[in-house]
Amino acid sequence: PDADSFARRLLAWFDVHGRHDLPWQHPRTAYRVWLSEVMLQQTQVAAVIPYFERFLGRFPDLRSLAAAPGEEVMRYWAGLGYYARARNLHAAARAVVERHGGEFPSDYAAVLALPGIGRSTAGAILAQAHGQRHAILDGNVKRVLARWAGIAGWPGETAVAEQLWACSERLLPATRLADYTQALMDLGASLCSARKPRCGDCPLAADCRAHLEGRTAELPGAKPK
Ligand code: ADE
Repeated sequence: PDADSFARRLLAWFDVHGRHDLPWQHPRTAYRVWLSEVMLQQTQVAAVIPYFERFLGRFPDLRSLAAAPGEEVMRYWAGLGYYARARNLHAAARAVVERHGGEFPSDYAAVLALPGIGRSTAGAILAQAHGQRHAILDGNVKRVLARWAGIAGWPGETAVAEQLWACSERLLPATRLADYTQALMDLGASLCSARKPRCGDCPLAADCRAHLEGRTAELPGAKPK
């Protein structure tokens, strides 16, 4: 299956059906994308939007976040849950001021070195903010790729995750990385749902292994007992 055609079909679908009006897309600065990606790690888009707006109203840039007392950051996070995210966000803002003069880094290794940012979040930030060519692999994207490529096994297993990462990297297009990244997440959050995927509307169904072999219910594999 051809990587070029995967991205072409996904982007054509995204142009019509994807989300183009999320608050962190306009303007798409690294600070705003970073904040959104951390909030979206364990919280759905609709729940994140009002928190994102309120948080940015109080902390409009990275320096204002770094300068704030920790307890105030926690107050603006209250209700989103998973509070380690807020502590890491605050620590990362302070690290960016110390290590990078307050400018969110555009280098992958420097982004990955910040607290609360793993491989997928680092890729998502740099692809969306700067159009850099990095793979992502969050829960939704694992499902899309496990199905499309027919990668069996539980993604919590290192060997399975590495296959999924390799697949995500191989499929990266040469251009439109910000849109491509959002498109992959949007497809995973809409058509390629866990329980009832809508393969009839999916731009990738023609060469999706799981769809062609009737295995969407089995992929990705469940955690072994
Ligand atoms: N989950 C993580 N990042 C996301 C994004 N940019 N859009 C939608 N869901 C996401």
